[in-house]
Amino acid sequence: MILDNPRVINNHDPIEHNATTATGGTAHAPMGEAEHLSANGTTPASSKTGGAAHASLAAGQGPARLKLHAIRKAWPTVLANDDVGLEVAPGEIHAVLGENGAGKSTLVKIIYGVIQADSGEIQWEGRPVRIAHPADARALGIGMVFQHFSLFETLTVAENIALGLGSRTPMETLAERIIETSRRYGLALDPRRHVHELSVGERQRVEIVRCLLQSPRLLIMDEPTSVLPPQLVEPLFQTLRTIASEGCSILYISHKLEEIRALCDRATVMRAGRVTATCRPAEHSASELAEMMIGRELPRVTRAAVSAVAPEVLLAVDKLTIPPSHRYGTGLQSIQLALHAGEILGIAGISGNGQTELLDALCGESLAERAGQVRLCGQDVGRIGVAGRRSLGLATVVEERQGRGAVPALSLTQNALLTASRQGFLRGGGLVDRKAVRRFTERCIERFSVRCSGPEALAGSLSGGNLQRFIVGRELMQSPRVLLVAQPTWGVDVGAAAFIRQSLLDLRERAAAVLVISDDLDELFEICDRIAVIAGGKLSAPRPIADTDEAEIGLMMAGAKG
Ligand SMILES: Nc1ncnc2c1ncn2[C@@H]1O[C@H](COP(=O)(O)OP(=O)(O)OP(=O)(O)O)[C@@H](O)[C@H]1O
Ligand SMILES: [Mg+2]
Repeated sequence: MILDNPRVINNHDPIEHNATTATGGTAHAPMGEAEHLSANGTTPASSKTGGAAHASLAAGQGPARLKLHAIRKAWPTVLANDDVGLEVAPGEIHAVLGENGAGKSTLVKIIYGVIQADSGEIQWEGRPVRIAHPADARALGIGMVFQHFSLFETLTVAENIALGLGSRTPMETLAERIIETSRRYGLALDPRRHVHELSVGERQRVEIVRCLLQSPRLLIMDEPTSVLPPQLVEPLFQTLRTIASEGCSILYISHKLEEIRALCDRATVMRAGRVTATCRPAEHSASELAEMMIGRELPRVTRAAVSAVAPEVLLAVDKLTIPPSHRYGTGLQSIQLALHAGEILGIAGISGNGQTELLDALCGESLAERAGQVRLCGQDVGRIGVAGRRSLGLATVVEERQGRGAVPALSLTQNALLTASRQGFLRGGGLVDRKAVRRFTERCIERFSVRCSGPEALAGSLSGGNLQRFIVGRELMQSPRVLLVAQPTWGVDVGAAAFIRQSLLDLRERAAAVLVISDDLDELFEICDRIAVIAGGKLSAPRPIADTDEAEIGLMMAGAKG
């Protein structure tokens, strides 16, 4: 087994997998033009972005740690990177900004050697290099936290990290190093736990700790805080500032503009595969950055005034207790909940406190022990599974979009059929009305601005945020009476986030009931009518948004207040 090959570790990274199929098996092989990477370029690429926008290197003298010149990468249907230049100084924290599908992940995958550029040059500390494989990148001192997790679910945290490091360190010693590193950086992790038992936030911690253990000289982070609870973001930033002050450069991709303003020395802005600007993010407001990204003003979210909660309860949960599904799982303890027609109820909480278990119990993935514990639109559904609940008007957006929310190896049309088959797609005798599914998918792509080659695109070929737009769109277009949604705007750009939040508010206006589970308190306060907190598997009584604030909810999330 090739232990240091992330393509092996990355056992369910569908983007990579599909890259192979989508390009006829060439995506992983160095392309003919790969030699161009060693040709010596002369023009600093960033100067092409316009003198005014170009900011000089933030830190250090001498050659840039990393310099890209005229990087180009075409996928069969889209030019993902077009003449991209970028320069990162030693010890600099450099952001890559851009809307969904702008080409950010493609670019950093090229730097890490996961995919090959068609042409262009990479310079490492002043010398042209060819990075044909992630092992080459690691040998140079490049570490990467992927946008989609690259962990083996059936292995423990320590085993996954051992694979990633490719070292022969005894497991005991490695476990101690993991504990020490995770403590030092405030990223709590238990090396003995299996990855399948971990929440998304915890998995992200594994990825980050794995990278930090390699003491990288360039750390690439592709949306590292997308599911990190807010309390852990500042400690992570402290960590990043510390390692940057020690000379490690950081390439940082995020849609969270305030974080970029707080953390990053400089930013390169991309749109549709091209660099459109470079700037110092601290010198711009978040909305100015958003405008640079999307090329127009940010859409505003409007909501009708909060009215009194309607009396009609569409989803009711009564004393629902579910034991933990595994040793480290969180059980649900006597959950009490009433979700009313025409309201958005937010559930705040630090990931791993029972959110996944609650969503599973509500959508029908796990069943209640007794009758009468879960009622949907007046019917007792506690013992009914997902399909039965969907046919009563329930729709769900799970937090794990790859694998659970969508099947990466299937087309968007096929993925639409998976959850929306009740939209008149089935004819007599179980035959599928393909034209109808295709039309539905096309409408979804259009309404939710899903950037892709069309309804037959494989879900795995979409950029992270575009897949999220598709999944949310697919569920919303079924006009559910009750919508459950976890992390609705995870990984989507600011423009699309505003659109998705507005769509949830519009659904509420149509008298549907919406339950939003999110780590993002700003998001919850922006769209919810009431908010409850889940901590240790217990759900607090919901409060009207006007009667509480982020500080109070934050304390409750930490279990300090109930
Ligand atoms: N393996 C692939 N096969 C085909 N097309 C791909 C593949 N990977 C990416 N693309 C396309 O390349 C473009 C850029 O994708 P990329 O993932 O780099 O975007 P991104 O800027 O990281 O977006 P996001 O913010 O949504 O993560 C998109 O149009 C995407 O659909
Ligand atoms: Mg991406």
